[in-house]
Amino acid sequence: MKRAALLAICLLLAVVAWSQSDMDYQRWMKDIGATCGSLKKNLGAKNGEAAAADAKKLHSDFAQVQMFFEKKHSDDAKTFAMNASEGFNKIAMQASAGKFDDAAATFKATTANCGGCHDMHREKAADGSFKIKY
Ligand code: HEC
Repeated sequence: MKRAALLAICLLLAVVAWSQSDMDYQRWMKDIGATCGSLKKNLGAKNGEAAAADAKKLHSDFAQVQMFFEKKHSDDAKTFAMNASEGFNKIAMQASAGKFDDAAATFKATTANCGGCHDMHREKAADGSFKIKY
């Protein structure tokens, strides 16, 4: 009896921990979506400093996403995140150097990782929200 109760508590804790990390994840993605829009605008306006700041933020956000999927042992998702992280790092350098054509080309290549990962690892729930698919 005691054992069953203990097991139930463990299970509950595991579920709480799980949904917690999924919620963190959703917050990152919302943030990433907004920062990515801002980066695009700043690159278009040739605002090098602001664009570099956005790109640096995305670089570290995707490093976190990469770690998240590394823990889940999802290799292809991890690779999409790693490519995105590296791409945004490159954009940050190109934007600070005033190389806006190069930065725009890198932006295009880097954001291909968004759709690539979404196609394979994002699932639309019945209520219209998104879920992670491993
Ligand atoms: C490694 C995989 C991966 C990469 C790379 C990735 N995403 Fe996502 N994204 C997801 C998953 C999984 C979800 C659904 C999970 C969720 O929203 O909780 C998601 C959801 C989103 C959402 C919806 C958030 C919400 O629930 O309202 C936005 C916006 C988003 N991503 C933007 C981006 C942009 C922009 C990029 C590229 C710069 C990107 N993502 C790259 C995996 C990825």
